[in-house]
Amino acid sequence: MSRCFYLETFGCQMNVVDSERIVALLGEIGYQQVESPDTADLILLNTCSVRDKAERKVYGHLGRFKPLKQARPELILGVGGCVAQQEGERLLEKLPYLDIVFGTHNVHRLPEMVQKVESGRERCQETDFLDGETRLQLFPRRSEGEGIVRFVTVMQGCDNFCSYCVVPLVRGREISRPSHEVLDEIRDLAQSGVREVTLIGQNVNSYGLRQSDEPNFAGLLRQVQKIEGIERIRFTTSHPRDLSDELIDCFGELSKLCLHLHLPLQSGSDAILKRMNRGYSAADYLRKVERLRTVAPDIRLTTDIIVGFPGESDNDFAATLAAVREVGYADAFTFLYSPRPGTAAADYDDPMPASEKQIHFDALLKLQLETSARIWASDVGKTAAVLVEGRSKQGGGQLFGRTTWNRIVNFEGGDELIGTIVPVRIVRSFKNSQLGETLGV
Ligand code: SAH
Ligand code: SF4
Ligand code: F3S
Repeated sequence: MSRCFYLETFGCQMNVVDSERIVALLGEIGYQQVESPDTADLILLNTCSVRDKAERKVYGHLGRFKPLKQARPELILGVGGCVAQQEGERLLEKLPYLDIVFGTHNVHRLPEMVQKVESGRERCQETDFLDGETRLQLFPRRSEGEGIVRFVTVMQGCDNFCSYCVVPLVRGREISRPSHEVLDEIRDLAQSGVREVTLIGQNVNSYGLRQSDEPNFAGLLRQVQKIEGIERIRFTTSHPRDLSDELIDCFGELSKLCLHLHLPLQSGSDAILKRMNRGYSAADYLRKVERLRTVAPDIRLTTDIIVGFPGESDNDFAATLAAVREVGYADAFTFLYSPRPGTAAADYDDPMPASEKQIHFDALLKLQLETSARIWASDVGKTAAVLVEGRSKQGGGQLFGRTTWNRIVNFEGGDELIGTIVPVRIVRSFKNSQLGETLGV
């Protein structure tokens, strides 16, 4: 009997990749994905706990599914990802209508857990971390699926323990995937029509550093550059501390490497960076930016900033504004600090009232919106190379793709352009995308 499942994914690329794996694994036991929870036999949430707001969203969503479960008691409800990892058994205790809790190292166990619930309606929970060797064997190898752009996992976990961050607690220790596996996967993807890969990990710059027989991240990029069929390479996320000169120089040397780097600054104040345990100063960061711009003058940078870290003074915040102004980011994700259980900063003194933090936050946002608008508007009139990904869901079915700077461009054109790089004249710039036209139109 064919059954169907509904899956919602929150959080970062790690969860996106895990969700692709969930779809494949459930397919093997006869479950098909559907777009609405209303008729699904199984509902799964792949969750994020990086900030309190993200975590609360999960509870909100689960609440929405409760009436469905009451109407159809045979419905199976499961939670995976980072909230599941952090909460474990407690989630089952808190939510009596929940059937399955699976952690970030336990995605492969999901089919068995689902079958267990189906047969006996026994609720289950698996959130144990796996050790290095077992974990490596479980790294998803994905050649199936379609699309022009794909994420490829090169490492998992994080050992940086930035004092505000829950990721090391919910994703476990850092581990790099063997380079031959990464490269084989990318070759397979290229064969099946993928033209752009984004290499992902919490801190890709430390790829391979612990294995003497493996290339470092710059070496890995050089190998990916050689793969036929792959036209574009991106990677995320980069820790500024581990952004080596060798890696920076890749932006000048590797023709397929896109001219966009997401380089989270977090703060422009040395005192705050120190208490965040980031391992670099504002000057270190700015020196790296300068080198990036020397080797690749057209590169655009994006960043993450936390506002209102415990003890952040007006002066500290002014230093952040100054750094943001100096770099001139094309985009920035700005976050109000959110204390996370189990992290070092959760115990720090945090005297500043929320209203003052909000004033800082608004000032930063204003600066960033102005900068972004200026940078993206400067593209109008230029011709940019766009890798066409498909038909956009909005905008009357125009084609969409992205420029080297990772900006979405919508334009009119035929299906034959999908998967190719097309010169597109940018005619308008909006907040999150641009409108273009093919030359000669
Ligand atoms: N591994 C990546 C991203 C991790 S999470 C990195 O190191 O850059 C994404 C972003 O969420 C972080 O860069 C940080 O800006 C933000 N973030 C993480 N924990 C946070 C917290 N407790 N409060 C507010 N923002 C946080
Ligand atoms: Fe979190 Fe820091 Fe690791 Fe990024 S590098 S995931 S911010 S601990
Ligand atoms: Fe969120 Fe987990 Fe990613 S906490 S940001 S989904 S690693």
